Amino acid sequence: MTGRIKDKVALITGGAFGMGAETARIFAAEGAKVAIVDILDDEGPKRVQEIESAGGVARFWRLDVTDDAAWAAVTAEVVKAFGRIDILVNNAGVSGSKYEDPFDETGWRTLMSINVDGVFYGMKHVVPIMAENGGGSIVNLSSISGNTGQNNIHHGYNASKGAVRTITKSAAVRHARQGIRVNSVHPGLMPPMRTSGATADPVVRQKMLARVPMRRNGRADEVAKACLFLASDDASYITGSELHVDGGYLAS
Ligand SMILES: NC(=O)c1ccc[n+]([C@@H]2O[C@H](COP(=O)([O-])OP(=O)(O)OC[C@H]3O[C@@H](n4cnc5c(N)ncnc54)[C@H](O)[C@@H]3O)[C@@H](O)[C@H]2O)c1
Repeated sequence: MTGRIKDKVALITGGAFGMGAETARIFAAEGAKVAIVDILDDEGPKRVQEIESAGGVARFWRLDVTDDAAWAAVTAEVVKAFGRIDILVNNAGVSGSKYEDPFDETGWRTLMSINVDGVFYGMKHVVPIMAENGGGSIVNLSSISGNTGQNNIHHGYNASKGAVRTITKSAAVRHARQGIRVNSVHPGLMPPMRTSGATADPVVRQKMLARVPMRRNGRADEVAKACLFLASDDASYITGSELHVDGGYLAS
């Protein structure tokens, strides 16, 4: 443990599984008290146990990120338990390959609701808490899909991650004087999401890999470490920026 975010309080959405869980693990190892929020009632407590066994501090709260009232209740409980919130990682999301038809309307609503409303509500409820404490750092999970089109992804995924990219810049400008930094992280080809459809298929993934200059998948810890950098004081003059963790995909 090097303590890069020692004694900070970090709330991580979708922190019970995948990259959010890895971010929770690394943040706790770097000294943060971690509030894991997710809809996975079985996985959440397991992540807390793992972090505690490694000597870290974490707690789990059930939170559906699309639920405004639940955000109000859970953020109040986190402040009661840990005293404040210094870091928010808006990581919860649903995959763009869950729906095959790019015009599937349920897909559009679900993607916009979880991927965009979730980030909006997270910032709505956490910004005032951070502002009252003199500042904080928000990291929003966008994607390479927020910067470019893809021919095997629902239109709503690209639209939702593009919205995350620009709301990040909007919030960075608006809340800079409250001491709040807001940045986005853009993973490329990572291990499949829980909700991945075609993009979890090894044949499809092989074709996608051919477009990645580094010719390999990213790992969850490589995204978590980018989140750690932006969350920490090492990034003290960085706000409104986007960090591509994509093996060179967007540069090619
Ligand atoms: N895996 C990839 O290839 C990839 C690439 C680029 C960006 N991303 C983005 O990174 C983030 C994390 O992705 P991942 O690969 O870890 O996905 P994942 O599916 O493994 O994990 C997502 C987590 O979010 C939670 N979640 C989903 N809906 C929720 C809701 N309504 N309320 C609360 N929690 C909810 C899930 O339960 C899960 O724990 C997502 O925003 C995703 O869009 C992923």
